[in-house]
Amino acid sequence: MRKKRVLIIDDEYEIRSLLANYIQRMEGYEPSLAKDLEEGLSLARNNEFEHILCDYYLNPDSEGPEGTAVEFLQRAKAEGIGSNIIVMSGKAEVDKAVEVTKLGAVDYLAKPITFAQLEFVLKRAEERAKLYRENIQLKQQVEEKYSFSNIIARSPQMERIFNVIEKVKDYKTTVLVTGESGTGKELVSRALHFNSIRKHAPFVAVNCGGIPENLLESELFGHVKGAFTDAVRSKKGLFEEAQGGTLFLDEIGELPLSLQVKLLRVLQEHEIRPVGDNKTIKVDVRIVAATARDLGELVRQGKFREDLYYRINVLTIVIPPLRERKEDIRLLIDHFIKKYNKVIKPKKVVGVSPEAMQVLMNYKWPGNVRELENVIERALVLTEHDTIQVEDLPVSLHSLDVPASTGGQEEFIPESLSIKKNAKKMESKLISIALAKTKGNKTQAAQLLEISLPALLYKMKEYGLTS
Ligand SMILES: Nc1ncnc2c1ncn2[C@@H]1O[C@H](COP(=O)(O)OP(=O)(O)OP(=O)(O)O)[C@@H](O)[C@H]1O
Ligand SMILES: [Mg+2]
Repeated sequence: MRKKRVLIIDDEYEIRSLLANYIQRMEGYEPSLAKDLEEGLSLARNNEFEHILCDYYLNPDSEGPEGTAVEFLQRAKAEGIGSNIIVMSGKAEVDKAVEVTKLGAVDYLAKPITFAQLEFVLKRAEERAKLYRENIQLKQQVEEKYSFSNIIARSPQMERIFNVIEKVKDYKTTVLVTGESGTGKELVSRALHFNSIRKHAPFVAVNCGGIPENLLESELFGHVKGAFTDAVRSKKGLFEEAQGGTLFLDEIGELPLSLQVKLLRVLQEHEIRPVGDNKTIKVDVRIVAATARDLGELVRQGKFREDLYYRINVLTIVIPPLRERKEDIRLLIDHFIKKYNKVIKPKKVVGVSPEAMQVLMNYKWPGNVRELENVIERALVLTEHDTIQVEDLPVSLHSLDVPASTGGQEEFIPESLSIKKNAKKMESKLISIALAKTKGNKTQAAQLLEISLPALLYKMKEYGLTS
């Protein structure tokens, strides 16, 4: 078996030889020695050490260069040296131990060090490193288990959607993806493409509501030179750009009626005609369309052609709103915390307080996953704790689930347009809601309201409110 290598960095010869002797007595270990920081770093850089034992003060009084374990830790971590670093010091000092563990040392040993102590600390470090690795592996497995092409979900409804994607991904049949705003329609459409045999060809997305009607036709089908005033050269349309791949028609409900006819023809004939051209071009493109609107209703209103509706409504994936699949909320929160921890440095948020979790679970999420993502990102920026607190969440999240006793259900109908009068009414209302939510705890209510406690007390008196 390969021996575990241990690097000993100490300016005192006696300590180095004592520790080397200990290490040699331990089965399966092999010591290396360094007398100062630079020598230690250079060895650590070029070798795979399981452990590094580093003295706190290196060369404080002797001739050699000075250094401390703090500097060693900082430089070793910056260089990505992954060994277990254990700091040794002349005596047990709690603040030193805290300081070095914050910098990434796995343990702290006070001299004089006995054989048994050293053996115990090394074994403990190895045990921890093993747990850490297993934990990371486990987390990755969980992530993989509940994710399909970046779609994080564990609810049975979403699992059914994953199955449908698996089944239909390789067919050319048009797929219609529907769901409220922010439920992940585009994500699902991308998953359909990037898991299909078409994945090496382009995925081209177009927002049918985002391009003026007079430009949309040439965007989709292209045009020839001179087709209209600005057409100084011919241009390929998005259908041709997506050749062999997938064209994602987002907000299909917004497609103008004139283009609906043309799209229907493409779906039937598999060919397009660029604006101003008399020839047609064969296209092999899979269409995935998405809409947050009720297409059936648009058909009834005469805004969407019935024949096109039937043509694209062959295979429909309906993504349920987030409030109907609460199992996914926790998983998504974890996912977004991890995502934004990486972006918003040096924050390290580990989770959500139980109270905040309750607010997040009770909220109705009209903006679905997109809204949840924004709320988590915002909370990570605002929070001063390692878990997200209720006060890190937007007020709108907790004032919507107002206890009935506060009269929160009744609508706010202004008697006049006076901002001054209405602002007072609104203020008084927000205060009663906050007091109801915190069961009369004025300190917490003031936090929710983002005002000081004296200000709250003053306003309660002014509005005649009791808690
Ligand atoms: N299940 C999910 N897992 C991870 N991220 C998700 C999930 N669902 C949605 N998102 C994220 O939420 C955001 C909105 O998703 P997407 O754009 O796909 O929604 P949409 O239904 O197309 O919304 P809209 O109707 O507003 O266009 C994106 O940032 C997306 O990555
Ligand atoms: Mg979208």
